[in-house]
This record gives sequence, structure tokens and C-alpha cells, in this order.
Amino acid sequence: MTKVAIFGTGHLAKTLLKGLNLIRNEPILLYGRSSFKANQLKQVYQNLILVKDAIELAKAEVIFLLIPANAILTLEPSFLQEVKHSVLIFCANSLTVEDLQQRLGVEKIVKLLPNIHWQYLKGVMLLRSSVAVSEKEIAFLSNLGKVHKVASEQDFDHMTLFTSCLPGLIAEMLKTMSENVGILNQQQKELFLLTVLTTVESIYNSNQDFDQIIEEVANKGGLTEVGIKVLNKYLPLVFQEMVQKMNIKILDRKESLAKG
Ligand SMILES: NC(=O)c1ccc[n+]([C@@H]2O[C@H](COP(=O)([O-])OP(=O)(O)OC[C@H]3O[C@@H](n4cnc5c(N)ncnc54)[C@H](OP(=O)(O)O)[C@@H]3O)[C@@H](O)[C@H]2O)c1
Repeated sequence: MTKVAIFGTGHLAKTLLKGLNLIRNEPILLYGRSSFKANQLKQVYQNLILVKDAIELAKAEVIFLLIPANAILTLEPSFLQEVKHSVLIFCANSLTVEDLQQRLGVEKIVKLLPNIHWQYLKGVMLLRSSVAVSEKEIAFLSNLGKVHKVASEQDFDHMTLFTSCLPGLIAEMLKTMSENVGILNQQQKELFLLTVLTTVESIYNSNQDFDQIIEEVANKGGLTEVGIKVLNKYLPLVFQEMVQKMNIKILDRKESLAKG
């Protein structure tokens, strides 16, 4: 089994640890600049081995760099020298595999854009790797969910909006909807979520068109039809602006990293 290490103690580190511990009990090396946060994780996961210096992560065959892009670009040369035989997996969209090869001088690089659902082994992970990385070295990732190899770097920008970012976007949409349809208590929230879950499941499992469900529910002259007309009027504008602003953010991040 691949020996795994994690650099970072944020949201992705926490959710990855949850997922990894569902599929394996092997020790996992962990380094975080905050020893407080690393210790908190150790309370939950006994198999964690906390290391005081990131360089000790080099003992692992695969190292997840779950830190922001600027932190990756300022990794110590001594660290990079030591980890050159390990596979480095990073999750920052604003960097490319080629960026890291050139700027950090590392060979075995995987760009992986996951979503937080890897904690339930139901993640969606967009992946692109350097030629030096073998299939075998990263095969374990498919235990954490669906791995999709992207054809180009542009695919990450386009697809991350409806994969990595989606859990947050959906949660915001459901929150706004639940606040405005008059959900008053926990019991009503459960009924709402059960209906959301079944609607998504049925579309996913039957490969139905969205329009098929809409037609089944929104009878001519009926109540749902009124609601759908309002959604048709406003939602396209909302999503167009959302995508436009997110795309500007993607470009801004890349430009600021390119300037160094
Ligand atoms: N969250 C997601 O759903 C998601 C999905 C796909 C990709 N990503 C990307 O994955 C990366 C990590 O995301 P995240 O959600 O885990 O972020 P996060 O919750 O903000 O955690 C970031 C981690 O990086 C550490 N860090 C920050 N600056 C550092 C530095 N200069 N040196 C060393 N460590 C540093 C932080 O330490 P402290 O706690 O001490 O600040 C923290 O442990 C980001 O690039 C993000 O865009 C996130």
C-alpha cells in the first residue's frame, strides 16, 4: 500500500483524512505549520504521525500538498530536494503541472482538483499528472471517488466550477431556497432535503433529462409552472454573473502568481 503524507491541516486535509481512514489504517505522516491544528487532528486520527519539519514527509511515497498556491511556490529548496522521489499531489488550480516542474524543479507531479466529498469516498477528482508518475503510484485515488483525467489545463478552469466548487455553491443555493420557501423547523428541513436528494438521485440514476422531471411536475396552469417561470426569468442571469465573476477570479489568481 502507498505510504501517504499530508502537508496542511485545512479543510482539504481534514476531509482527505476522513476518507483515507475509511479505506486504510496505515500510518499517515502529517505536517502543518500550526502544531495546534495538527494536534487536534491527531486527537481524531490515532494513525497520524505528526512531524515537526516538513522535510520528514519525504519518507512517504505520495505527499499531498494541501496548501495554497503561493505557499507551494515558496517551498524550501531543501524540502524539494528531499522529496524528489515522492509523488507530489497539489490541489491549487492556479498552478499547472508544468509550472511546478519548471519553477520547483520537481518531476513527479499530480494536479488534483477534488471536492470535499472524498471524505465519504464519493469525491469527484479532476486529475492531470506528469509523465514521470505511474498509474500504479496514484491508483489508490480511485478509492476516494471518481477520478476524471482532464485533457488539458483549460478543462480544470471550466470543470472546477461544477466539481470542486459545487458543494459550496449548492449549499448556498439550498440555504437561500430553504430560507425563502418558508421552512420553519428541523422536521420541515428534513422533508426539503429528502426531496432534494430523491430528485437528484432519480435524475442521476435514470439518466433522465432535467426537462422530463420538470414536465412531470409542472402541469400546465398549475402551481409549479408559476414558480418555474420566475426561475427561468432570473436564474440564467444569476448563473451567468456567477460564472463570469468566478472566471475573473481564476484569471486574477493566475496573473498574480505569474508576476511572482
Ligand atoms: N476546500 C476545497 O473544497 C478545495 C477544493 C479544491 C481545491 N482546493 C485548493 O486546495 C488548497 C487547500 O485548500 P483548503 O480548503 O484545505 O484550504 P485551507 O482550509 O485554507 O487550508 C490551507 C492550509 O494551508 C496552510 N498554509 C497556508 N499558507 C501556508 C504557508 N505559507 N506555509 C505553510 N502552510 C500554509 C494553512 O495553515 P494554517 O491553518 O496555519 O493557516 C492550512 O493548513 C487551496 O489551494 C485550495 O484552493 C480546495
